[in-house]
Amino acid sequence: MRAQAIGGSQTDERVKLEKGFLPLIEERLSMRQLVTYVPNKTVPIHRWFSYKEGFSAALVDVFLREFGGQPGKSRVFDPFVGCGTTVIAAKQAGYGAWGIDILPVAIFVAGVKLRSAEDYDLLRLKAGIDRLLASPYHEPSISAPQDVRIIELAFSEDVLNEILFFKEEVLKEEDESIREFLLLGLLSILEKVSYTSKDGQFLRLKPEKNIPPVRATLARQLRLMYRDLTTIGYQMRLFEKPVKYIVPSSRIYVLLADARDFTSTIDDYADVIITSPPYLNRYDYSRIYGLELSLAFVEDFDSLKAIRHSLLRSHIESRPAPTDEVNHPALLEVLSNLAGKKLNNPRIPVMIKGYFEDMNLVLQELYKVCRPGARIALVVGNVRLEGELIPVDLLLSELASDVGFKIDQVIITRYKGNSSQQMGKYGRVPVRESVLVWSRG
Ligand SMILES: C[S@@+](CC[C@H](N)C(=O)[O-])C[C@H]1O[C@@H](n2cnc3c(N)ncnc32)[C@H](O)[C@@H]1O
Repeated sequence: MRAQAIGGSQTDERVKLEKGFLPLIEERLSMRQLVTYVPNKTVPIHRWFSYKEGFSAALVDVFLREFGGQPGKSRVFDPFVGCGTTVIAAKQAGYGAWGIDILPVAIFVAGVKLRSAEDYDLLRLKAGIDRLLASPYHEPSISAPQDVRIIELAFSEDVLNEILFFKEEVLKEEDESIREFLLLGLLSILEKVSYTSKDGQFLRLKPEKNIPPVRATLARQLRLMYRDLTTIGYQMRLFEKPVKYIVPSSRIYVLLADARDFTSTIDDYADVIITSPPYLNRYDYSRIYGLELSLAFVEDFDSLKAIRHSLLRSHIESRPAPTDEVNHPALLEVLSNLAGKKLNNPRIPVMIKGYFEDMNLVLQELYKVCRPGARIALVVGNVRLEGELIPVDLLLSELASDVGFKIDQVIITRYKGNSSQQMGKYGRVPVRESVLVWSRG
């Protein structure tokens, strides 16, 4: 890669890194859609909750095939499980699988989607849906957290009252699986009935949006979910009963846990890992999913902030402050170039350091959880921050190699456009998104 494309006064270390990895880099642009959530939008069950940072179930199928795992024997794991794509696709292909995530709404969504039709009393579920949709409106007696400002901005008073009314009705359902199915239906329409849109680093306000009626939107969503469940949602039972999603002893499950520190508390293993960590792109999941978190998982702003600070340090408000633990020359080069610049946001170097420190911890944990012969596919995007190109894919591969993984391939799946402003400023250099393929000897 041309030095000018990398940016900054010093580029030697990054050029060296690119050269070193050249023999392992392969372009597979046919995968460009598969690394996005888009294909999932039409796939039953995967389409229940829009998780735009996710990848597609089809990508999981590709790597399950390429890695030659054995259904029923190989265990599949995702340390950043998000809305459950890897675990659900693996389950459908006959694998035992598990996943963790630190965001309560992600674990909830993945857990409900993991349930099969056999896990429900279907007649009762159908009656529960009908009862909910037919309930006459009354003023809700519950409220949303008063100090989370986005709630006020996102919903008109009438819409918020109707959401709270439905939530109150859902909570009356005694059967836990049915209650959670209904709650997922409600959470998955929040964006649609709000003046917001999840299309950037934050939740974007769209005050001009046309808001559809809450009851009709909920009806459409719950009926679609019921149809998916009762048509393709019947699953072969693998091992013992697969769900309650927070029970670690079952063989297919998802758990709330921190990818930087989980092997001391969870006793399980992996033969195949298919995952995608947060990108170093400043996305703050606690803001993007602020509506869903506020309406079902947190009581007040302080608990929302606690979630924000618990996330991997890939966003500007991350905590704690980094140390100097990760010292890769290419990373130091980026940081040294940034130190000489007037930055738009002074916290960017702190975020970059924190990100690689956190990912280093994650990689150490992944090495521990992998059985010999395990294969890993990790989807990640590079970024350009303040003009500096950061080769996240190669830096993570270097760190993975340091903890003991063998680096097999760096598969470039697409080149993402920078903003046109950035393109203009730094030349037309797109930033790549790759699948890193590693193995444990
Ligand atoms: C790119 S998304 C993964 C999406 C997933 N592949 C899917 O298809 O739904 C990254 C995930 O990492 C989670 N995350 C952030 N910090 C974490 C941490 N410290 N431990 C575990 N998960 C974390 C986020 O909540 C988010 O769900």
